[in-house]
This record gives sequence, C-alpha cells and structure tokens, in this order.
Amino acid sequence: MTALLEAENLVKHFPASRNLFGRPTSFVRAVDGVSFHVEAGETLALVGESGCGKSTVSRLVLRLIEPDAGSVRFEGRDLLALDANELRAFRRQAQIIFQDPYASLNPRMTVGQILGEPLALHELVPANARRARVEELLRLVGLEPRFARRYPHEFSGGQRQRIAIARALAVEPKLIICDEPVSALDVSIRSQILNLLHDLQERLGLSYIFVSHDLAVVKHIADRVAVMNLGGIVETAETQALFASPRHPYSRALLSAIPVPKPQARRARMILQGEMPSALNPPSGCRFHTRCPFVVERCRTEVPQLIADGTGHALGQSVGQPVGQPVGHATACHRAAELPSAEGVVPADGGFSPALEKLVAAFSLSEEGPAASGVDIVGRPAAV
Ligand SMILES: Nc1ncnc2c1ncn2[C@@H]1O[C@H](COP(=O)(O)OP(=O)(O)O)[C@@H](O)[C@H]1O
Ligand SMILES: [Mg+2]
Repeated sequence: MTALLEAENLVKHFPASRNLFGRPTSFVRAVDGVSFHVEAGETLALVGESGCGKSTVSRLVLRLIEPDAGSVRFEGRDLLALDANELRAFRRQAQIIFQDPYASLNPRMTVGQILGEPLALHELVPANARRARVEELLRLVGLEPRFARRYPHEFSGGQRQRIAIARALAVEPKLIICDEPVSALDVSIRSQILNLLHDLQERLGLSYIFVSHDLAVVKHIADRVAVMNLGGIVETAETQALFASPRHPYSRALLSAIPVPKPQARRARMILQGEMPSALNPPSGCRFHTRCPFVVERCRTEVPQLIADGTGHALGQSVGQPVGQPVGHATACHRAAELPSAEGVVPADGGFSPALEKLVAAFSLSEEGPAASGVDIVGRPAAV
C-alpha cells in the first residue's frame, strides 16, 4: 500500500534579481529539498515561521507551480508526468483552501454559483440536481441552504471560510491542503472551523495537509507534524511525540512560544536571537545555526540530514511505508542526540547564554513547576 501523497526532495528557487539580459542573478531558495508523505485519512501539519516555504510546498504538491527538482506522487502516480487531461482529473482529488477566503471567493458570484461552478466544470451532477447538491454542501459545512442566494460580502470571516471549504468539498476530493485556514479568524471562531475540518475528515475520510505558522493550532488537528525552517524540514514526528519531546532547537523555540493556558503555569519563552535569515542568502550548513543556542562549528559547515529514529535512514527513504506502520521521529540536527531533554543538560561547549537558560527552563519545567521535574536547568537535582 502506498501513501496517498509522497513528495521527495522538492526544490523551488524563485529568481530574485536579473541582469540586463533577463538572466536570473540571484534566487530565493524558497523550498530546498523537502520530502514528506501523507497517508489516506491522515492530517500532516506543516509548521514554521512566515516565509519558510510552506505555501510554496503546498503549491508544488498540487502542481500549481513546477518544481526545479524532486517528485510528487499521488496514489503512486508521478504528478509531473500527467498530461492536461490527467492533471484535470487530479485537480478533483486534491483541493486547497487559503487563509483569506474573501480573496478566493468571487465577489460577483452568489454562493450558489460559487459552489455550482465546480459541479458543472467536472460534470459531477446533472444540471437539475445541482441546486440540491449545493444545499447539501452548505448543510455539510454548517450553513443554511438559503444562503445559496447571497454574496460573499454578506458573510462573516468564519462563514466565508465555511463556504471555501464547501467549494473544496464539491469535487469530493481525497486531499485538502489547508493553508493557514484559521490564521485570519477571531480566536473564538478558530476552534469552530478546526472542529468542522475534523468532523468532515471523520465523515468523509479526507486527508489534510494543514499549513500553519502556529504550533498551538495544529496540536489538536494533526496526526503528524513537519516543522519547517527556511525551505527545509528540520523535524517530523507524530504530534504527541513532538509536543512531548521536541528535539530540534527550532521546534523547541516554536513550542516555547505557545502561550500556556493556565495563568499559574509557567513556561519560559525561548526568544530567538537575531533576525530570521533570508531565504535569499540562507546560512551555510544548518540553516538554523545563526539563531541556535547550541551551535558548534560543524553546524556552520555541514548540512544536517533528517534522520529517523533508530533507523539511521534519511526520511526520504522511509517514504512509502505501509499504512499503519509507525512513522519515526526524525530530526535534522547534528546535535539532536546530545541536547538537553526534559531533564536539562548543559550543552557540550559549556555556553550558557540567557537565551539558552530560558530554553532549557522551558523544557525542564512541567506545568506544576520546577519541583515536578526533579532537576534544575543544569541537570542537577533541584534543591528542595
Ligand atoms: N512567486 C514568488 N516569487 C519570488 N519569491 C517568492 C514567490 N513565492 C514565494 N516567494 C518567496 O519564497 C519564500 C517562501 O515563501 P512562502 O512559501 O510563501 O512561505 P510561507 O508560506 O511559509 O510564509 C519567501 O521568501 C517568499 O518571499
Ligand atoms: Mg504562506
């Protein structure tokens, strides 16, 4: 059994400047060797700061843009080899919804027309049954069938996202890429949309690639998480494993930025030093090294590979595993094995910057406070 979607070593560099003859002279290395897979019925979250390449990956796997290198397989078929007809058929199988549904819904069309369009385009239901199908789609996303006569501007942000979801569902896809689907919504509306996506997944057996810059949002919706930094995946794990023991310093920083819901609970934030480097001129070696509190010389020169637990294999080689087989926890960090765990360890070079102290504290404190973990930040048993 193959995965629903497999991306292998995707690369996309955008020309950033050109010379007099129109030849590109520099490139934004938006996506630089990204591999992952999505199983049927699963939600994979792609998480990372703005600009790290998440939307570019999304567009590459839908073949909305062409990669410079790498491959995408959908149900085992090479997407890059599809002709126009086959590509149209693929477009039915995989849909995308965006952060701002208003920008993606034609303001001059009624909701009924917006939802009816893909039905007609793909000849999914006979013309006389379209209206009933539109109403069914609206009910499916929790909207009233009479809304079919209204225009997008008559709805709230949350309702518009429901309409965008209904439009994606119209073609009965297997995969939906949700690109920051709740980032523009009020916090109170977010969980409603997340719950809707979750319900729809259960009812329809959908797979999602859920793109977000916010780890907190993906915690409850994702089965697995891939953390991206500057065009590459730095860590991937089942969601629980990632939240319980993030290994890459970058994942730890992202996790420490999630607000703690209980006011009395403490979590030190790991404030990353310095600006996020640019994908125009990314750092050599590990792309996180300029901001990493654990950096050693090797990190500056040698690109770390994504290594899965215990296997010693790069993640790309585990693609295509049978469904149901547990997927390892993979990290692209030279020092993954030696970094402080929840118990706290001093980094090998003995450096102890304020940023590091905060980082280690963030992961050695349980929600009950320092005593619960039994050690202080240097790994000594805590004073009682
Ligand atoms: N069409 C494009 N032309 C040039 N640069 C682009 C284009 N699309 C994206 N980029 C650049 O690629 C990088 C990744 O962008 P994007 O995939 O949108 O990141 P994210 O979705 O994670 O915020 C950014 O530096 C962005 O400016
Ligand atoms: Mg984006």
